[in-house]
Amino acid sequence: MESEHTREEKPGITRKTLFKAALIATPVPLLIGQVPALARDAAGTGQTLTPTPYCDDGDDPTPPQIEGPYFKPNSPQRSVLPGAGTTLTLSGYVFGLSCQPLANVLLDFWQADSNGAYDNVTYNFRGHQYTNAQGAYKLTTIVPGLYPGRTRHIHVKVQAPNQPILTTQLYFPGEPRNSTDTIFDPALLMTVRTVGTGREATFDFVLNVKGGPPTSPPPGGGTWQAGVTYQAGDQVTYGGATYRCLQGHLSQAGWEPPNVPALWQRV
Ligand SMILES: [Fe+2]
Repeated sequence: MESEHTREEKPGITRKTLFKAALIATPVPLLIGQVPALARDAAGTGQTLTPTPYCDDGDDPTPPQIEGPYFKPNSPQRSVLPGAGTTLTLSGYVFGLSCQPLANVLLDFWQADSNGAYDNVTYNFRGHQYTNAQGAYKLTTIVPGLYPGRTRHIHVKVQAPNQPILTTQLYFPGEPRNSTDTIFDPALLMTVRTVGTGREATFDFVLNVKGGPPTSPPPGGGTWQAGVTYQAGDQVTYGGATYRCLQGHLSQAGWEPPNVPALWQRV
């Protein structure tokens, strides 16, 4: 049996230890139904984002185990991981500390199949991709099965150009094992909704990368403006086209309607 669920505990008081202490002191129902905040919601508020936590379950760096490594370098570049199971579409953005969307960020995903098994021979359910010019990524895969001793999770390494690698895991809300998995971190919960027979998940990564906000692109003309709180259903014009707001947000330069299909739909 692999030892993925085992890890060395670091001495001293860790953030996770503090979280556990808080769990004991806090009525548990406060956490039930909690919707994790997306980093994009802080855009334009001038605040500094909190970096996505590092999360290592012992398979990074690759341990010399008989069963073989779980992380495998040289995964194929692809955003669709084919295989049987419940379809899961995961999308989001990668930001720096100042809310600037980061382009060309490498995201290397790997996960178990629907039976909770990792393919350590070939590259099933492994693939890497890069964020686009707007800092967005999208992965199409399946809901991973439960690996023995762990709650449901997806592994990912995230690296901006010439920056350190963030190795972490993403979790599913409402999983019974979230409360017993010692590695689980609520800061790594995706937002997940059921769409038809599949699932749509969202997660924004925040890398410990300094930098200023994105520079303003040339004005596109129209009613859209930066610094405006738009509500779902609002309509604006930009660059000669009309767009309807899909999700309430505070607009900002770099997030013009054509650049953010998650927020604006052309009508
Ligand atoms: Fe794992």
